[in-house]
Amino acid sequence: MTQMLTKDQIFSVIVPLVKEVGLYQKNKLNDSHDIEYKGEINIVTEVDKNSEQMIIDCLQNHFPEHDIMAEEGSGDRKDSPYKWIVDPLDGTVNYSHGYPHFAVSIALEFNGQILAGIVYDPMRDELFTAYKGDGATLNNKPIHCAQPKKLIRSLMATGFAYNLRTSPENNLNHFKNVLLKAQAVRRDGTASLDICYVACGRYDGFWELNLFPWDTAAALLIALEAGAVSSKFDGDEFNVYEKDIVVCAPGIHKEFVGVLKKGLKKSLF
Ligand code: IPD
Ligand code: CA
Ligand code: CA
Repeated sequence: MTQMLTKDQIFSVIVPLVKEVGLYQKNKLNDSHDIEYKGEINIVTEVDKNSEQMIIDCLQNHFPEHDIMAEEGSGDRKDSPYKWIVDPLDGTVNYSHGYPHFAVSIALEFNGQILAGIVYDPMRDELFTAYKGDGATLNNKPIHCAQPKKLIRSLMATGFAYNLRTSPENNLNHFKNVLLKAQAVRRDGTASLDICYVACGRYDGFWELNLFPWDTAAALLIALEAGAVSSKFDGDEFNVYEKDIVVCAPGIHKEFVGVLKKGLKKSLF
């Protein structure tokens, strides 16, 4: 049987790695970028690709037997119980405009469960981490989600997937519904940081449609280990391969899901 990697074995490799990749991204932020279009509004820059290559090289060097799933496609499948789930640059649209809000996100899955999550914001030098069962930290200090009891006292966040022009599930109906019930709603373009902000109490809740495992896996473990709860929009259990994610403080989950349920199957287009 494969031995489970310890927290130290994971973090001693991944923490220096995300800091190195993050510094590279920060230093390149205000350069002009080579932009390729994966869709009408879905882009990739040379910084995404180079960041992914740095991460893949390091993972393959330290963990040659492990599977890797990475957003820009340079992953590797070896049928290992371990799978690294990598978003080399979460918040690419922000990044390409010089908007300083983006992150490196790396999760490690073991036998289908997320074992560790690391999200690094290089602009604020904020490192969010979690190891399953061991709590969540921000720059090595334990973090906990906020404890609001009502949506009207809650600061919420969401995002919109790149297929919002073509998919009937464009989130506009949910956006309107939550906006009318919460204290306020933000949309800041980096799903991993949105979820980490729920973990440390800056946001009270987050929802989005059509995200991918690399957007959510690391941050979700960080939020759960910080005391947040997660589900799908209908309140059922969420896993990172599902398309509708809710992460929030436990005291507002029932009310929040009640609002999202009302918007299911209805779009504004
Ligand atoms: C995107 C960001 C954004 C979310 C999009 C994601 P990318 O990831 O996380 O916040 O709204 O749905 O695709 O493309 O910048 O890695
Ligand atoms: Ca992403
Ligand atoms: Ca990305």
